[in-house]
Amino acid sequence: MAKKILIIHGPNLNLLGKREPKIYGKFSLAEINKSLLALAKKNKVDLKTAQSNHEGEIVDLFGESKGKFDAIIINPAGYTHTSVAIRDAIVACGIPTIEVHLSNIYARESFRQTSLIAPVCKGQISGFGSLSYILALEAAIDICKSKK
Ligand code: DQA
Repeated sequence: MAKKILIIHGPNLNLLGKREPKIYGKFSLAEINKSLLALAKKNKVDLKTAQSNHEGEIVDLFGESKGKFDAIIINPAGYTHTSVAIRDAIVACGIPTIEVHLSNIYARESFRQTSLIAPVCKGQISGFGSLSYILALEAAIDICKSKK
């Protein structure tokens, strides 16, 4: 059976392309998802994409994912720096999770330089624009392949 990967885009990422393009790039979320789905297809993995502006909904996505996905990629966006609830949900679901950011959060305001999420993830990719997502998907595919 094909391995399954879930990608969760957090708050305001529905505005990509229009929102601060100098920081977050010119690509829309639909364009980013399209290239991720193409890469997933090429590698014969099932990719599901989700976006939510709501912390509780993101917590629910992790809860519902237990046993259903082999890896999860999340851009927690603004919740990166504040959400104990999302961090706890990642630990509770037990699925290897990769944190991704378009911008380099360590080169920005001090409040963005702390991630509550990264310590409970397999790893973090930050600063490569839309390429960050491709790199994260490559890492997730690698996790799936090593699970067999
Ligand atoms: C972001 C970085 C966050 O600090 C910010 O709140 C975002 C996007 C990124 O992808 O660079 O919304 O996660």
